[in-house]
Amino acid sequence: MAKRATASEPLPDAIAARVDAWIESTRGRHAPPLTFAEVRKGVQALSSLYVERRGGHDLARRSLAGAGKRAAFATYYAPLHFLAAYYAVAARPRPCAGEALTLYDLGCGTGAAGAGAAVALGARARVVASDRSGFAIGEARAAYAAFGLRAVARRRDLLAALPRLRGTSLVCLGWCVNELDAAARDELLAWLQGPGRRAGLCLLEPLASSASPWWDDWVDALAESGARAERPRARIERPEWIAELDRAAGLDHREIGARLLWREPR
Ligand SMILES: C[S@@+](CC[C@H](N)C(=O)[O-])C[C@H]1O[C@@H](n2cnc3c(N)ncnc32)[C@H](O)[C@@H]1O
Repeated sequence: MAKRATASEPLPDAIAARVDAWIESTRGRHAPPLTFAEVRKGVQALSSLYVERRGGHDLARRSLAGAGKRAAFATYYAPLHFLAAYYAVAARPRPCAGEALTLYDLGCGTGAAGAGAAVALGARARVVASDRSGFAIGEARAAYAAFGLRAVARRRDLLAALPRLRGTSLVCLGWCVNELDAAARDELLAWLQGPGRRAGLCLLEPLASSASPWWDDWVDALAESGARAERPRARIERPEWIAELDRAAGLDHREIGARLLWREPR
């Protein structure tokens, strides 16, 4: 039987208000002009792309092709990724709470995972973000601003954006490693074991093992550097827009979760 999440703490009011305002302003950029039905179709198209057609060519580009999928990515999956990242990180011990921290949000997409992790850490986080999609970078800038985070976001390939680390840092890889080809994944893993090992790590992937068949190898490879695998789940109060799209698209995100590979910020 599937493991159930215990009821999660509601989001603190101040964070819930920022999530609502972020969704509202993101909707304002996408729907209108798109109708609710067009966004709902985008949600279903993205869901089927991720679940059923993952093996095909260039998932990253196909997932952002078309206004409906972009609107779904920005207004629906982004808040869900924010909440999944927030609850995953909020459950970790937080030795750096209140301290200065640089969070590298690689493959940042809409900035959802990086913003969720930064807000949950409660650290004075500066975000350095990158993604190869210009559309995503625009959305990410808006997301970091919505949560009051200091951030720079640049359009760049993930491997070209691997940082030279200084000070306390955390590398966030939210639902993007599964979009890399095998050679790029190997290069990223070698960096995380080498120059990147002095950073913390927040690697998030879907619960379905078919999305990330390399997962166990990475868990083994990074264990020696202090990384630990978890499967955090949370029962959430869905924002109204998410609940409406869930109902219309035949999906249910009252409970959310992810695979997490976590190494403390350092
Ligand atoms: C499923 S989205 C997740 C985005 C975000 N991290 C989140 O939490 O919602 C995956 C992102 O990885 C980006 N991506 C995929 N391959 C990339 C690469 N080689 N370099 C940079 N970004 C990449 C895509 O453009 C996309 O924005």
